[in-house]
Amino acid sequence: MRSWSWVFAFALVHAFAWSLGAEQRPHTERISGSAGDVLEDNPVGRLKVYVYELPSKYNKKLLQKDARCLNHMFAAEIFMHRFLLSSAVRTPNPEEADWFYTPIYTTCDLTPTGLPLPFKSPRMMRSAIQLISSNWPYWNRTEGADHFFVVPHDFGACFHYQEEKAIERGILSLLRRATLVQTFGQRNHVCLKEGSITIPPYAPPQKMQAHLIPQDTPRSIFVYFRGLFYDVNNDPEGGYYARGARAAVWENFKDNPLFDISTDHPTTYYEDMQRAVFCLCPLGWAPWSPRLVEAVVFGCIPVIIADDIVLPFADAIPWEEIGVYVAEEDVPNLDTILTSISPDVILRKQRLLANPSMKRAMLFPQPAQSGDAFHQILNGLARKLPHHRSVYLKPGEKVLNWTAGPVGDLKPW
Ligand SMILES: *[C@@H]1O[C@H](CO)[C@@H](O)[C@H](O)[C@H]1NC(C)=O
Ligand SMILES: *[C@@H]1O[C@H](CO)[C@@H](O)[C@H](O)[C@H]1NC(C)=O
Repeated sequence: MRSWSWVFAFALVHAFAWSLGAEQRPHTERISGSAGDVLEDNPVGRLKVYVYELPSKYNKKLLQKDARCLNHMFAAEIFMHRFLLSSAVRTPNPEEADWFYTPIYTTCDLTPTGLPLPFKSPRMMRSAIQLISSNWPYWNRTEGADHFFVVPHDFGACFHYQEEKAIERGILSLLRRATLVQTFGQRNHVCLKEGSITIPPYAPPQKMQAHLIPQDTPRSIFVYFRGLFYDVNNDPEGGYYARGARAAVWENFKDNPLFDISTDHPTTYYEDMQRAVFCLCPLGWAPWSPRLVEAVVFGCIPVIIADDIVLPFADAIPWEEIGVYVAEEDVPNLDTILTSISPDVILRKQRLLANPSMKRAMLFPQPAQSGDAFHQILNGLARKLPHHRSVYLKPGEKVLNWTAGPVGDLKPW
């Protein structure tokens, strides 16, 4: 039998440390000489982006039909377009561009309940690539190797929301040479190719700002989580949804007083995260869940439960230092794992999280701010320059197979 008094003793020590930490703020901490500095890089002057002009049916018309596209977690594809149009890195001269960007809103096709349907995305993407490759010479020069695409859907450019189907489809073959900017991030997965840039999902910045509470509010909640534990419709057993991690959290800790977990979504949700020490982020296959963004913005130490995940901007954000990684199979020991973290370590993580540059990197604000997620994407693209000579094909050389992939994808859009 577990000794609860033992657990509480630890919790008390920690509670003391957290309130102490709160009083000692606003000390923030930078990780100098490493990732922390990269976050503050300024991409302007380090790359030039040419924005293709496409007929509005590929972008603005879709948004006109459904304004909800601006609020869902994949809205980065729209905001990135808007950002680039007025960005200092944009060049009107494609001859001097380092990168080419095709503004296409492949996830702006929502069901009545707001879920993106990716079934037309491959045809739409193919149609756009056909257009740019016949109207401009730049695609054929590299067959896309100096082009980037924002594909924030569940499994990125595999364009399916069911994993098996996504794997079966693989990345749309026309995008095999391009750089993909996506929320999907899982190591050794066919839908994440080498060189992709993993980004956070879109979470509404103004709404989060509006719920900020004073920074010195004590963190009196030990572990916090709100969300589903089971996907009742698709996976009542709980084995598939978030790979069972959420179900395991519920079954092991629903009655544990250190765990403030529930499916209820209270109106004080954002405030509660600012009163919590640890925020659970059972992320399944990818950092799609806005919980990761919320935890960072609200200074709650993210407890990342997702084996082999690739987190957003992992080359710039020191995730191991600000968060806690818990292996999926260790979920039943979450209480012991979290109560054994020393107050010093907790305080250091909290100081790192208090660094405004971490928060900024997670958000897509309107208007953009230096260091925000838009800038981190550009930094990621700039770090890939200069392009290797091998990306430029010899005259007449062809690498891509335009007829590869499912036959249905070849139908005109
Ligand atoms: C690019 O190559 C395709 C054939 O692969 C061709 O149809 C198209 O006209 C070429 N584009 C340009 C601008 O020459
Ligand atoms: C292109 O893909 C199609 C369909 O998979 C295949 O039949 C064809 O042989 C491929 N062409 C080349 C040149 O590899």
